[in-house]
Amino acid sequence: MPGPGAFLVGEEERREVQEILESGYLSRYGRLDNPDFKRKVATLEEKFAQCIGVKHCLAVNGGTSAMMASLAALRIKPGAEIIVPGYTYIATMSAVIAVGGKPVLAEVDESLTLDPKDVARKITSNTQGIIPVHMLGNPCDMDRIMKIAHEHDLFVLEDACQALGASYKGQCVGSFGDMGAFSLNVNKTLTAGDGGLVTTNDNNLYERAFGFHDQGHIPSLLGVEFGNRTIIGINLKLNELTGAFALGQLKKLNHILQTLKTKKSALKNALMAGGIKNMGFRKINDPDECHTILTVLFPDAATAQQVAKALHTITVFDSGWHVYNNMEHLLAYTDAEGNKPYHAHMLPQTDDILGRAINLSVGVVDPGIGASFGINILTTDAEIPAKAKEFIDIVKPMVD
Ligand SMILES: Cc1ncc(COP(=O)(O)O)c(C=O)c1O
Repeated sequence: MPGPGAFLVGEEERREVQEILESGYLSRYGRLDNPDFKRKVATLEEKFAQCIGVKHCLAVNGGTSAMMASLAALRIKPGAEIIVPGYTYIATMSAVIAVGGKPVLAEVDESLTLDPKDVARKITSNTQGIIPVHMLGNPCDMDRIMKIAHEHDLFVLEDACQALGASYKGQCVGSFGDMGAFSLNVNKTLTAGDGGLVTTNDNNLYERAFGFHDQGHIPSLLGVEFGNRTIIGINLKLNELTGAFALGQLKKLNHILQTLKTKKSALKNALMAGGIKNMGFRKINDPDECHTILTVLFPDAATAQQVAKALHTITVFDSGWHVYNNMEHLLAYTDAEGNKPYHAHMLPQTDDILGRAINLSVGVVDPGIGASFGINILTTDAEIPAKAKEFIDIVKPMVD
């Protein structure tokens, strides 16, 4: 079940990919004097860096890879504590564990993103960084998170995998922290099937991430320098076919954001006009969010459960691997010292908020995040009031 980009695959992607099929040249590396080498991955990196407003972008083969390459570049110390929210995709935690760090779970607030108050509480002498996750397209409270990071000399890696295109106070997410990571899997704003993008303004972090994403090579078109390699890499490269597809999608970003903004506000306004008294909405930290999901909040978990059942959906608390309680492999994880750092219900504030929340689809239609009731990017303006009426007719008698 896809995100908005997947609904719109068409001529732009076909044209880009066709060039590669005709040239038969698939590697991201090549000589500029070879007419078969189309520089699709390199062009994607240049255009994406420009789009986000950063100096460097590195394309990789997935969002998890983007997180790992960033964390490797940031030199995670063995066992270093990295603060992550308890409501995120498992990849946020697994990337930290894969590079030898220890994810420390923190609460989310009613924005469903990291609660800065709890971040401050979770800092110890062993904390090395913070990973704010711009969850469901909603930018984190970056003012407060960056302030805490500066006060404690911590790195910030923005997990922007679900928030390609979102801005906070006029600045794109993925450009606030030391590094940012984006995903191009099928559920995201833009897709290439799979793929990821690393962003940074720091030359050294870019070079280290680049080296990690190949086999230690410093950035170049050929990637075969000897004598300058300072980092062991694991090959997370993107190929030209995927890069070409992503370039086609990137052309649609503004259209996607504008369309979803209009559709989300039409749906939200129609729900508000229904006058359901005992229902609120997730706090949005900046109106220039991605508009992919409309989250509604009820006064208690029992009411939310009842509503979810009637809508043939589930509460956010019950949704898949985005909730730490439902990550059985994380709960079973034993660290190097033999400790089991994670257990169900260790984040009571997160449990309370997620238990009262239901995600309605606007641009991302994904039962995995509980968003199976709602609209999508192809829903017409005329269909939105009918969808809102269906919701109000079911929910109002139940909650008011
Ligand atoms: C918040 C978050 N972080 C990281 C990832 C990992 O991205 P990918 O699936 O491209 O590896 C995802 C993808 O679902 C995500 O939602």
